[in-house]
Amino acid sequence: MRTQVGIVGAGPAGLLLSHLLHRCGISSVVLEARSRRYVEERIRAGVLEQGTVDLLNEAGVGARMQREGLVHHGIELRFSGRNHRIDFADLTGHGVTVYGQHEVVKDLIAQRLADGGDIRFEAEEVSVQDVETARPRIRFRHAGRSQELDCDFIAGCDGFHGICRPSIPAGQLTTYDRVYPFAWLGILAQAAPSQDELIYANHPDGFALYSMRSPEITRLYLQCRPDEDPADWSDDRIWSALHARLGDGADGWRLNEGPILQKSVTPMRSFVTEPMRHGRMFLAGDAAHIVPPTGAKGMNLAVADIRVLAAALDGFYRRGDEAGLDGYSATCLRRIWRMQRFSWWMTSMLHRFDDKGDFDQRVQLAELEYVTSSRAASESLAENYVGLMRR
Ligand code: APR
Ligand code: PHB
Repeated sequence: MRTQVGIVGAGPAGLLLSHLLHRCGISSVVLEARSRRYVEERIRAGVLEQGTVDLLNEAGVGARMQREGLVHHGIELRFSGRNHRIDFADLTGHGVTVYGQHEVVKDLIAQRLADGGDIRFEAEEVSVQDVETARPRIRFRHAGRSQELDCDFIAGCDGFHGICRPSIPAGQLTTYDRVYPFAWLGILAQAAPSQDELIYANHPDGFALYSMRSPEITRLYLQCRPDEDPADWSDDRIWSALHARLGDGADGWRLNEGPILQKSVTPMRSFVTEPMRHGRMFLAGDAAHIVPPTGAKGMNLAVADIRVLAAALDGFYRRGDEAGLDGYSATCLRRIWRMQRFSWWMTSMLHRFDDKGDFDQRVQLAELEYVTSSRAASESLAENYVGLMRR
């Protein structure tokens, strides 16, 4: 088998790359370890920056997002029994769109298949070969047969636990890592959202986040231990923790309850690999970097990488110009580090840190006071959250 760009992973990064390349007349094959159903039902985050929304619209895959996505013009911060709104529209003139990552994945898969795209789900034993040469290859097993895909380039879009990054020889990459001493218990509930905007709560018992997916589905998170077993969280325990941390009762607000459809624990880490290229293999999305979800940046960063990579590959095929490919890593890393800083800062401001003392806790509350009382500080949060920044 032969293609121009071999793509490992059918998450948002791999699928969007395949779609954008198709629009430039560049062929690709996507190899995905999981089934179509699994990737379409995997519940992940769901906040899209305007730049992400614009790219999906321009690429012709935004129609359902336009219909079903919920546009938000602000968020609320709750702490010390108080409630503050950060008004994105007033501070930045922009908002964000709440639309689940798996919905983006469904839309991209449908479009690729409608365009005759080649996605091999349930590919096994995927490995990359000869990436330092002009003829890299991907070996894999599919439908019981061992196969080899010859490519000009490989895109490692296989997430944090994929095989592309670990296939790069030790010493070629530098990694920067921070593991936080807590995780998020994520809950999907069949309950109408109790209000229109997200709530980020800093509470003495730990962080909580109120979000949503649709007019019928609420998405909620609770800070928990990293080794927490979701089975230890009965529905009653979850609801009482959510009511306590989200501050029910304050100004008459009350969290709506409903059957819990799904529970899972997500560890929290910050991680960056540099550079995002080795020979003819390019890493994109979670394969190269992870942010804690507090800033809602994971999918937006993956999309931003792909925008740069697709343009660089187009420049190469159209004009034989390698400048975009050579600049790929540095271009992406500028944005990635700024968003790492923002995600780390939001995480530090909002969580309970058991390993820190009273002094740090007072500084954390002072930070929240500052962010909610100074226009300059609110604006800083808002411009990062909506993703308004120059490269
Ligand atoms: N072979 C083939 N596919 C693989 C392999 C492998 N060895 N290992 C992993 N994959 C697949 C995974 O099953 C997954 O579908 O690669 C895909 C990677 O997708 P994502 O994890 O969604 O990563 P990415 O596309 O970079 O999107 C980043 O995902 O985790 C969130 O917060 C993150 O929103 C961000 C987004
Ligand atoms: C979500 O809706 O899943 C969500 C929203 C905001 C975040 C993280 C996750 O910061």
